[in-house]
Amino acid sequence: MSSYFSDISRRSFLGCSAGALVATSFPFAHSLAAAPAPRRIILDCDTGVDDAIAILLALRSPELKVEAVTAVSGNVPLALTLPNTLRMVEIAGRSDVPVAGGAALPLVRQLITASYVHGENGLGGAEFPEPKLKPFGETAVQLIGRIVRSNPGEITIVGVGPLTNVALALKSDPLLAQQIKEIVVMGGSLTGGNITPSAEFNFYVDPEAARIVFDSGVPVTMVGLNVTQKVLLGEQQISMLESAKTPVSQAAAKILRSTIEHIGKGRGITAKTMAMHDPLTVAHLIDPTILTLKDYYVQIETSGEFSAGESVAYEYPRARASAPMSVGSAGPEVRAADVKPNAKVAVAVDPDKFFNLLMPRLTAAS
Ligand code: BDR
Ligand code: CA
Repeated sequence: MSSYFSDISRRSFLGCSAGALVATSFPFAHSLAAAPAPRRIILDCDTGVDDAIAILLALRSPELKVEAVTAVSGNVPLALTLPNTLRMVEIAGRSDVPVAGGAALPLVRQLITASYVHGENGLGGAEFPEPKLKPFGETAVQLIGRIVRSNPGEITIVGVGPLTNVALALKSDPLLAQQIKEIVVMGGSLTGGNITPSAEFNFYVDPEAARIVFDSGVPVTMVGLNVTQKVLLGEQQISMLESAKTPVSQAAAKILRSTIEHIGKGRGITAKTMAMHDPLTVAHLIDPTILTLKDYYVQIETSGEFSAGESVAYEYPRARASAPMSVGSAGPEVRAADVKPNAKVAVAVDPDKFFNLLMPRLTAAS
């Protein structure tokens, strides 16, 4: 593990982060250039352990203005991801942020969950009281559509679960795509899957939804397993969270400790770390230097018998479809000359930079 842990302190956080710039510059605002306006996001989650940490990170980051958090089925069914999302928003002290429930099932497939990682309750078995916060009076699709339409070109959608809600929003209004600033997704991989050899979990659960998103014409950023599996949180960070004794740090520590024990039990091993897939995706929006992005042409496999949900990523401008059948219709040909990059794909990550951002945000007193 890197040395980031010993390097950071609240002081260094306050000294370095843009959040601190906002906070500490206020009394001298007249003499400093204005801080950039926060990036406006809707966070769509299948909460989920790493989703929970991603929600806490987003809501504790002044560089982001979280307009809504929406829930979808994935790691566990919607009946659990929605209350888990409400809990996290409440624990972050941000009950002002609307939370809406969305799709209970993928577009055309049966729901496959990941309770083997996230526990039966989606929070690694860590128990929390029922949330007091209630879901907003609109569905996720209605809420996403309304916020985007009222703020054309302003809203980034951050999808860290199966993309069912996002795809349904795009399908429900053909004009919506051109009003979304960007869609940033945790999903896919340049280096093979985590639920099948081909597919990453979020795209495996709803490949058709992922395909709609990549084909939508909205600028897409894909943060896949090839980078997220390099940001591994373990004992060092959990102890740090436990010592901080704030509601956010205590909740995060409780979820993470319980999950690592749960993963180990399920496999008959002592698990030591857990990848911070979703928090890394949120962190990219706070500090874009954590990830290196490259232009790709990405297609999502939807018809493969064994490979549905695979992100077939061509380093632009190369592209080639499967060989046409010798009988029947050959189908459309894909030629390099015809394709345009449709996504920026994360190809490298600086794990130290990521943890130097994440930990102070989760442990700061307020
Ligand atoms: C993704 O799948 C989920 O289990 C995680 O929350 C993450 O979004 C990683 O494949
Ligand atoms: Ca997730």
